[in-house]
Amino acid sequence: MAKRIGVLTGGGDTSALNATLEGVALKAEELGFELIGFMKGWRGVLNGGSYFTLTPDLIDENQGGTLLKSSRTNLIAENKMDEAIDNLRKFRIDGLIPIGGDDTLSIGAALSEIFTTTFVAKTIDNDVGLNAPNGDSIDYSQIVNYFCLGFPTAASRLINCVRDLRTTAYSHDRIFFVETMGRDAGWLTLSAAYGNADLIVVPEVRYDADRLAAAIEKKYAEIGNVVVVIAEGIRNRKGELMISSQEEIDAFGHTTPGGCSELIAAAMKRRLSPAIPVSSFRHLILAHLQRCGAPIQIDRDSAVRAGWLAVDAFAKGQANHVAAITRTEVGLQPKLFPLDEIIKFDDAGKVIPRNIDLRFYDTENLQISRAGIGYFRPIFGDLPKPYYVPLTELDIHQI
Ligand code: F6P
Repeated sequence: MAKRIGVLTGGGDTSALNATLEGVALKAEELGFELIGFMKGWRGVLNGGSYFTLTPDLIDENQGGTLLKSSRTNLIAENKMDEAIDNLRKFRIDGLIPIGGDDTLSIGAALSEIFTTTFVAKTIDNDVGLNAPNGDSIDYSQIVNYFCLGFPTAASRLINCVRDLRTTAYSHDRIFFVETMGRDAGWLTLSAAYGNADLIVVPEVRYDADRLAAAIEKKYAEIGNVVVVIAEGIRNRKGELMISSQEEIDAFGHTTPGGCSELIAAAMKRRLSPAIPVSSFRHLILAHLQRCGAPIQIDRDSAVRAGWLAVDAFAKGQANHVAAITRTEVGLQPKLFPLDEIIKFDDAGKVIPRNIDLRFYDTENLQISRAGIGYFRPIFGDLPKPYYVPLTELDIHQI
């Protein structure tokens, strides 16, 4: 009888999920496996859940989102592990492939004691994996999961927005506060350097209003406008998230962030020198505009190959491995990592997110560091030249 694999996508969607599903479906078809796509993440394996037979012809790897839909379903917190196990047994599932971030993978890890499970790591937050060992020099090939599938596309969408905002910042002498996704980690925020962000504020370093105000004043004096990019997950001096609306907690106990750009814009209005008109301040929350839409090529191609690899690992009996990305001399390649190298739990059993490697961030200047550019080079190349307007070449007269 043909082997039967169940696949699902959980957590926040990304642009590269259909591409991963395509890789999974292609390899399953090649090996003669039956592929069941459970809908809406772990919700799909519960009573009332839904599924269909997934074949490559149903999937468009160039389309963002996920054909299987997604949800944040915490089977453990809902006390639904037994129900899920019963249903998966009834289905005669031989193997499971959860595609997700730390939360989705942690549920898969619990089920892997019963079902042969291989995983694919994805999340636009890029916080699943391990940084290179500490030291003066960075061996980038030691990074466990170089990037999470979906991250390069989200970063490129952010980069394009920030680069485009520069022109309006110039035209109107604006100070823009752009808020990015990134609940715990500042990877996305850091990528904004490739859109010529002037100042970058990441959650890994405690937010310091005085430092930001001084940096804005300095930049404004130099170029007459400023684009500040801030992670939604930054925390105030007391260690609290800076959110503008009522606190919401998701199924995995995470507070939903949002609104720090508005709070910071208001605080900076009060703090900055009167030489900077308060009418020049604007804030902008990019939110899901970073997560939606079609994948960029590196993301799509890596995702197809990672999906393929997860099925291959199942076929070879390599349970509890995650198809992720590694940096080699010939570029970025999908590679299998043991699950316990990819996700680490704290004493309370919560997954520890991968923060940015602080060597990639210039804390003093609120900017990406040389080592950070080294990290992004295989994805986006060298840092683009600063946005430039030839003001000094214009023959401007005062009236
Ligand atoms: O997937 C992670 C993430 O993108 C976080 O960066 C963000 O805080 C969260 O999802 C937003 O999720 P939702 O789609 O539920 O608003």
